[in-house]
Amino acid sequence: MTSDNVKNESDRLSIRKLLDAHVGENYERQAAHINPVAARALKTIGFDRCYVRAEGAYLWDVAGTQYLDMLSGYGVFGLGRNHPEVSRVLKEFLDTRYPSLVKLDAPLLSGLLAEELKKRMPHPLDFVFFTNSGSEGIETAIKYARCATGRPGILYCSKAFHGLTYGSLSLNGDENFRHGFEPFLTDCRKIPYDDLEALEQALRQGDIAALVAEPIQGKGVNIPSSGYLREAARLCHEHGALFIDDEVQAGMGRTGRFLAIEHEGEVDADIVVLSKTLSGGYVPVGAVLCKKWIHEKVFSSMQRSVVHSSTFSEGSLAMVAGLATLDILDRQHLIQRAETFGNQLGEGLEKLIPRFEFLKEVRWRGLMIGIEFGPPSSLRLKTAWKVIHKLDKSLFPQAAIIPLLDEHHILTQVAGNDIDVVKLLPPFVIDESDVQWFLESFEAVLVQMHKFPGAVWDVLTDIGRMVLTQRAR
Ligand SMILES: Cc1ncc(COP(=O)(O)O)c(C=O)c1O
Repeated sequence: MTSDNVKNESDRLSIRKLLDAHVGENYERQAAHINPVAARALKTIGFDRCYVRAEGAYLWDVAGTQYLDMLSGYGVFGLGRNHPEVSRVLKEFLDTRYPSLVKLDAPLLSGLLAEELKKRMPHPLDFVFFTNSGSEGIETAIKYARCATGRPGILYCSKAFHGLTYGSLSLNGDENFRHGFEPFLTDCRKIPYDDLEALEQALRQGDIAALVAEPIQGKGVNIPSSGYLREAARLCHEHGALFIDDEVQAGMGRTGRFLAIEHEGEVDADIVVLSKTLSGGYVPVGAVLCKKWIHEKVFSSMQRSVVHSSTFSEGSLAMVAGLATLDILDRQHLIQRAETFGNQLGEGLEKLIPRFEFLKEVRWRGLMIGIEFGPPSSLRLKTAWKVIHKLDKSLFPQAAIIPLLDEHHILTQVAGNDIDVVKLLPPFVIDESDVQWFLESFEAVLVQMHKFPGAVWDVLTDIGRMVLTQRAR
C-alpha cells in the first residue's frame, strides 16, 4: 500500500505550517515537556532566543537578528549549518528509494564510508564500527579494549569528557557530571592529564586494558605538552595496553589536521573515535576505527559476528551524510581553512592580553580555541574577581558570553564547570569578516569587563545570587 489515505491535502502534516503556527513558543514548551530547569537557566542568562533560520556560520532569530555561531552545536557544524551540498546529496539519496537497515545484509554505503575514513587515517586502522553518537563510540572502545586485552582497567584523565552514558561517564574527570549517578563501571582509574610518570605508574599495575584520552581536552581546551600523546601511546604498548584516541570533538579537521593527534607526528593509536562533524550537521553518526587484531578478538567466531552492534548502526542516511561531509571537507579545503582562521582568531586574541588584566592565556589548535581569564593585578578589579568567584566558581566567564550574545550577537560557551575559560568552536566556513566581527566584539566586551563597578558586574552578581537561592531551596 502506497497511498496514505489523506482525504484532504490540507490534512497533511506540513512542518512549515506547524512551525509558523507555534513560532516563539520554544521555551514555554521546553519548560512544559522537556526540561524546565534548562529553560530557566537559559532565560536567566538571556540566552532564551528563538532561532528560526540557520545557514553556514549564522543563525537568525524570530525578529530577524543575525547571530555568529561560534559554538556550532558543541562542534557538530564543522561544515556550517544547512550546508547546501550535504542537503543536495541527502535529497538525491531520499529520491533513490534505496534500502536502509535491512540488518541481515552487508550495506554498501557503510563499506564505502569506512573505506573513505580509513584513507584519511595517519596510520593504518583496519575496521570501522558505526555509532549514532560520540559516547556510543566510547562505549564501543571500552568494550573492545577489555575484550582484546582480557584486562579490566581503563585509565582516563583528570578533566576528561567522553560523554554521559554510563561507560563514558565512568571516564568523566569532572565531579559535577558524576555526582548522583554512582556507582560507575568498576576498574576505571583517573590519572592527571599530560603526566607521563603518573601514566607509567598506573600501567605498571599490569591490569590496564587502555588509556582513553582526548588529544585536546574539550573542557578547558587543554593542549598537552609536545610529545605527550606519542609517548603515552608508546608506554601503553610497552605495558600491553591500548591507546584510545577520542577525536569526537577535535577530529574531522577542526584543529587543522584530519585527526588532532597528527600535530604530534606519529601517534600509534589503537582505536580512534569520531563523531560530531562527520554528521555534516544533519544525521547523527559516529565511527570507531580499530586495528585488525583487536577486531579479531572481539568478533572471534561466527557466533560472535554481531556481538557488538546497534539497531541504527550503518543507517543509510547517516552514511550518506558522512560521505558528503568527507567530500566537502576535501573539495572546499575546509581543514586548511580551519587552520588559517584558527590562527587569525588565536593571534588576534593573543594581542589583547597585554591590554587587559583579566585575560590570562589564549590556547588554540585550528578552530578549537580556549580563552582563559585569570586574577587581575589591580585592587579594584581583584574585588570583582573575588566577589564573583565567591558567588559561584563557574560564573566569571559569563561576564563575557552574556554581552557577546546580547550586544554583539555572537553565540559562545563557557568551557566547563569551575573554570574561567570561554570556548570557541566555530564552523570551518567562517571568513575574515567573521573573525573581525568576533575580535572587535570581544575587545569591546573586555573594555566593559574592566570597568568595576559596572553594569556587567551588576548583572552577574544578580545571576550569582539567583543561583545561590535556587541551591538553598
Ligand atoms: C571528546 C568527546 N568525546 C565524547 C563526547 C560524547 O559525544 P556525544 O555527546 O555525541 O555522545 C563528546 C561530546 O561533547 C566529546 O567532546
